[in-house]
Amino acid sequence: MDRFRVVGGARLAGTVRVSGAKNSALKLMAASLLAVGKSKITNLPAIADVEYMAELLTRLGCKIEIDAKAGEVSIDVPKTLGHRADYDLVRKLRASINVLGPLITRVGQAEVALPGGDAIGSRGLDFHINGLTDMGAEIKLEHGFIVANAKNGLSGLTITLEFPSVGATENIMTAATLAKGITSIENAAREPDLVDLGEFLISMGAKISGLGSHTIKIEGVSELKPATHATLPDRIVTGTWAFAAAMTKGDITIENGRADHLELPLDKLVEAGAVVTTTENGFRVKIDKRPLAVDVATLPYPGFPTDLQPMVITLNSIAEGTSVVTENVFEGRFMFVNELLRLGAKIQVDGHHAAITGIEQLSAAPVVATDIRAGAGLVLAALVSDGITIIEDSFHIDRGYPDFPAQLQSLGADVTRV
Ligand code: UD1
Repeated sequence: MDRFRVVGGARLAGTVRVSGAKNSALKLMAASLLAVGKSKITNLPAIADVEYMAELLTRLGCKIEIDAKAGEVSIDVPKTLGHRADYDLVRKLRASINVLGPLITRVGQAEVALPGGDAIGSRGLDFHINGLTDMGAEIKLEHGFIVANAKNGLSGLTITLEFPSVGATENIMTAATLAKGITSIENAAREPDLVDLGEFLISMGAKISGLGSHTIKIEGVSELKPATHATLPDRIVTGTWAFAAAMTKGDITIENGRADHLELPLDKLVEAGAVVTTTENGFRVKIDKRPLAVDVATLPYPGFPTDLQPMVITLNSIAEGTSVVTENVFEGRFMFVNELLRLGAKIQVDGHHAAITGIEQLSAAPVVATDIRAGAGLVLAALVSDGITIIEDSFHIDRGYPDFPAQLQSLGADVTRV
């Protein structure tokens, strides 16, 4: 069993470097299926999920070469592709769902296992399925699989999403690149990761406009060509470091951190008393007093990211004052609050609101990481606890944070794998 051992009390100071975004890299890899030939994705994060996606693409017939040292993967996509994503991989890697759009549009069929439950709540796929059906795919749910057929190709139209879902926008956008005519996605997601994917598709020859806005327009082309693309820096890992600095009365310079992708979270840290300054290649977060509590509501980008919700609840747990954090994206995300309560935090959850009364210090205890971001939040909580905290199931954290213990050590924390 993987565990992290965290000795509380350190003030984090120094420089960390952020690598490519998990939420972008996996989707770029899946999108490479759209073109025959060798695409290359660089600035990859060193996380297990990249290997799972590589395994999925291999099973579909691609030849994959990963250069872990350089942080690059080359994906050689054959003319004739498979069309099935099995449950054993999909359950480990939710981003497997991102092969759906590329397979339907390029192969004319796809069978992708349903991902099932998730520790952060139910994550629907109806917007993906409805959008692709409107474009002409026949989709059934059979024996735990999404079974899709589009033998006569897909056709563009206007699709209005009920909610700006990142995954649904991605699957519809990738499918639309090779569809007939123009697809317009209204109420589209605006996340930087999605813009990154759109830019990769454009470099492959796709005709896309409106990336980063509420309306994305895609004019279908007859084929795409392979391309090379550098993954954008991970905004959630960047935000995690910013919160780590603010909570530990620290001073962290985040190299490759894109402050422009984190406007609201950084505004909240300034409200909490931190000083944020830009540096040549990123930004710096510094604070020399106990942070002030901040109210936050999670929302799709550019709102406060749901992936940083555990970090802000943890900050508020040791901040001066009371606060309310509202979760609007994933209903199950407060599960990790139970672990924080074990560390002595004073939090009351009512529906999708958490009311938090800050205390000076948390109190070390064994806790369990239930997902990537909850796990990272618990590491931060352990850093501001008195004593030694053991975090069980730390493999979740490794899925999103390349070499987290080593990076924390380099900033002066005492964090080890046991
Ligand atoms: C979400 C986050 C994304 C984050 C990622 C990884 C949002 C809006 N999206 O993306 O920023 O990087 O998790 O943690 O914050 N939904 C449906 N039906 C669908 C699709 C979605 O009901 O077909 C619902 C989901 O249950 C959820 C919400 O819409 O409540 C957002 O889902 P979506 O953006 O698709 O999730 P991810 O793509 O996983």
